[in-house]
Amino acid sequence: MPDTAPTELTLRRPDDWHLHLRDGDMLRAVLPETARHFARAIVMPNLVPPVVTSTDAVAYRDRIRAALPEGSDFTPLMTLYLTEDTDPDDVERAHAEGIATAVKLYPAGATTNSASGVRDFDRVRRVLDRMAQIGMPLCIHGEVTDASVDIFDREAVFIDRMLKPIRKKNPDLRIVLEHVTTEDAVDYVRDTPKNLAATITTHHLIINRNHILAGGIRPHYYCLPVAKREKHRVALVQAAVSGDRRFFLGTDSAPHTDPRKLQECGCAGVFSAPNTMSCLAEVFEVAGKLNKLEAFTSLNGPAFYGLEPNAQTIRLIKGDPVTYPSHVPTEDGPVTVFDPGFPLHWRVA
Ligand code: NCD
Ligand code: ZN
Repeated sequence: MPDTAPTELTLRRPDDWHLHLRDGDMLRAVLPETARHFARAIVMPNLVPPVVTSTDAVAYRDRIRAALPEGSDFTPLMTLYLTEDTDPDDVERAHAEGIATAVKLYPAGATTNSASGVRDFDRVRRVLDRMAQIGMPLCIHGEVTDASVDIFDREAVFIDRMLKPIRKKNPDLRIVLEHVTTEDAVDYVRDTPKNLAATITTHHLIINRNHILAGGIRPHYYCLPVAKREKHRVALVQAAVSGDRRFFLGTDSAPHTDPRKLQECGCAGVFSAPNTMSCLAEVFEVAGKLNKLEAFTSLNGPAFYGLEPNAQTIRLIKGDPVTYPSHVPTEDGPVTVFDPGFPLHWRVA
């Protein structure tokens, strides 16, 4: 053990395994925030209309590449939005031609722009079978949409009612249970030796449901799945800092303009792209596990997706608290940056 805590840390360049980039002016505003630190990101397909076919994915990838800052070598890894009409042949083509890295399953109505998602899992069976055959991962938004299930229980219920049956019928399908928020999900992933991994967001490592609701309602902390009790946050931190290869970073950075967050029915989503690496370094340092940060942000994700870790490195430096702009401007209004609620001492050099 070194006598003094480190003040500098070199990591393989990180990747973000769950990211919302949106489109148009919003895309141009938020993409540089991710491309600054991250080499690659799994890009969510929940545009309006969604990115369903390989043709849609090529067009969206082109728009992302066109929006990249001059000289950026950021690589968007595209996903296809699974619908009950998705064609297995198109999915296979997208995979074979390197157009799409994964398919995204939204239970219909689970979250922002998920209306075209899946209602009847039997209707996507052929697609899932094909994906298992070709080794293409399925990213799952793991919440039931049954209105009678309490919103704080929807992830745990999804695991029992949906995920276990899917895995039983299709044990060879490689699945990423996305943005896990509960101890139940962490335990389930840990107990599953094969073909299952989970992403964890930056904000779910930092906030619990009190941050959203105690002492006033804070819409900027509202996201889906909603943050749970403190014991769940603690379980997420333990999973993230454990080095266990099944857990890796997916920020779920999901920008919405302030006017859309701050209305009678505000949108779900936390925008953490600008300060994620600083937030994570703080979380890992407090846990005494800075030495596991690289596994979480830069090694475990590529390993699951069968990709090489990035060759380049980034340097994190500890010093006086760094400040990030509180908002990123867009034509439709500002987007508020995630406020971790504590000072950030680590900056990316
Ligand atoms: C996401 C969005 O805004 O697109 N919102 C969120 O709260 N995470 C959708 C999602 O990933 O659930
Ligand atoms: Zn998301």
